[in-house]
Amino acid sequence: MTLKTRLTELLDIKHPIIQAPMAFVSGGALASATSNAGGLGLIGGGYGDQEWLEQELNRSHNADIGCGFITWSLVEQPHLLDVALDAKPKAVMLSFGDEKPFIESIKSAGAIVICQVQTLVQALAAHDNGADVIVAQGSEAGGHAAIRGTISLVREVVDRIDTVPVVAAGGIADGRGLAAALMLGAAGVLMGTRFCATQESLMPEQAKERALEATGDTTLQSSVVDMLRDKNWPGPYKLRTLQNDTLVQWHGREQQLAQDIDEQREAYEAATVARDYDHAAVIVGEATGMLKDIPTAGEVIEEIIVEAESCLANPPGCL
Ligand SMILES: Cc1cc2nc3c(=O)[nH]c(=O)nc-3n(C[C@H](O)[C@H](O)[C@H](O)COP(=O)(O)O)c2cc1C
Repeated sequence: MTLKTRLTELLDIKHPIIQAPMAFVSGGALASATSNAGGLGLIGGGYGDQEWLEQELNRSHNADIGCGFITWSLVEQPHLLDVALDAKPKAVMLSFGDEKPFIESIKSAGAIVICQVQTLVQALAAHDNGADVIVAQGSEAGGHAAIRGTISLVREVVDRIDTVPVVAAGGIADGRGLAAALMLGAAGVLMGTRFCATQESLMPEQAKERALEATGDTTLQSSVVDMLRDKNWPGPYKLRTLQNDTLVQWHGREQQLAQDIDEQREAYEAATVARDYDHAAVIVGEATGMLKDIPTAGEVIEEIIVEAESCLANPPGCL
């Protein structure tokens, strides 16, 4: 059995799995390993480090990959889209901001436009603006997200949008999650946290180990890390990471943090360089509780497909 969906047809991929674009975590090696294993791998264009982006596009060795951007940040450096489009990506994903100004140039370059949204209103707007694929992202997600939960958001978006494939994201890391997403009417899943803990991910090994030890209880959405990294994220987006001493100290005390920000930024930067994850952030979502190993991206995909097929044939919750 293969899981053929509108997503696999549109993207011409074997399995309905997209690997999320993750700034400084999903580079060319992870994206190409994912695409070579039958999914779609996306390089994380992140906050726009051009040198890093060019290096990672080169490292993908012309595999059929895509690239993702943080839209509000791309507005500040729109030429980065040209850098990505020059590499002839299969798809470009836009998240967190108004996609409209970028859609035409992506489509003219022959790439598929994927828009990640956090509310039904955003999904309808992305659809009107011409998105080819809509990713409905729930707040369980690692990295930035808003406040809606995955299950009800995906279901609502699927019910209102039937002309393009809808993909579920946030808290999905195994075959049960993929099967559940397909049951909701999604045409596939986009996963970040699961791919953080792979051989090809650029996340430091110590951070991967922390993610493996954690449970879904021990993550938190907060603005503290963005303040410390000097990233000016607009509301309502907050960053989900593992809880640590930094969050214990400052979450809920952001005004006091603002008063001492220069010194605290210096300390945070030092902790990041030292890979001191009691103080630096490990960016993962609630799905961290499902991580038990650090396989290759190809092994992740194979295992998820086998489990999803088995779940769809014999739902684990039924007698
Ligand atoms: C380490 C990490 C970095 C991320 N960076 C980005 C990013 O740069 N751009 C983006 O659109 N989404 C980013 N995300 C969010 C993903 O696109 C996706 O929505 C999320 O990972 C899905 O939830 P999951 O982590 O439970 O699989 C990131 C997620 C993680 C875990």
